[in-house]
Amino acid sequence: MSEVEGDRDGKGVLPRHIAIIMDGNGRWAKERGQARHKGHQAGAEAAREVIATAGELGVPVLSLFAFSSENWSRPATEVNRLMDLFRRALKQALPKLHENGVRVRFLGDRRRFPEDLQTRMAEAEALTADNQSLTLNICAGYGGRWDILESCRRLARDVAAGKLNPEDIDESGFAAGLSLADVPAPDLFIRTGGERRLSNFFLWDLAYTELYFSERLWPDFGGDALREAVTDFGERERRFGRVADNEGEASA
Ligand code: IPE
Ligand code: IPE
Ligand code: MG
Repeated sequence: MSEVEGDRDGKGVLPRHIAIIMDGNGRWAKERGQARHKGHQAGAEAAREVIATAGELGVPVLSLFAFSSENWSRPATEVNRLMDLFRRALKQALPKLHENGVRVRFLGDRRRFPEDLQTRMAEAEALTADNQSLTLNICAGYGGRWDILESCRRLARDVAAGKLNPEDIDESGFAAGLSLADVPAPDLFIRTGGERRLSNFFLWDLAYTELYFSERLWPDFGGDALREAVTDFGERERRFGRVADNEGEASA
């Protein structure tokens, strides 16, 4: 079954892949007169709950945007606090994730991360590589444009090496070089915090994704809010550029 035909007219179906921009931590903290990093801490708690709920629902793939390529431009103090939080959250959460059969992966350019964190990321991936219940993609240092360029570079290398004819480059060959190569494209995209933009999250992969925007700030977005979003998704009709089954013109 092709990706596009996956769940056409699939009312009530569960998304095979949910991608979330976890936005609004800073505003959540500000509303409470707290420093931004307190919001990030609360955000990590919310992530834990949403991961557990995705597992309970039986969603096969969950991608969480934790840190964008542009977030490196934030003040050094905030970036450093976030690195500390990644370190702690990973250490704390990993045993439970592994016990629950979660396969953890990190998507993004990790070369700018502190070396110890790069090592921990690789260790977490190796430890959980064979787990089967939920694939959890943590997008860190991730940018949709970076992802597309990585795939372009790979194809360019193959062409330069004489292994690939430019005329033979097609969508599936291109997609094979992207971070999400081995999982279905997101069926459902969620952004919390009220902004209605993609902020350089998955670009290629969101072509036919259903978009869902929540006004809730990320630390207030819990398991119930995820269930609401999944129910909303289940009521949508996806057409992928075609006409609904019952509305096609009878052939002459
Ligand atoms: C999202 O929350 C977390 C990261 C980008 C790391 P923000 O930090 O962007 O929170 P707001 O949007 O400023 O409220
Ligand atoms: C997007 O949120 C990135 C993450 C949530 C990790 P931002 O807060 O960085 O996005 P903008 O600046 O509002 O576009
Ligand atoms: Mg934000």
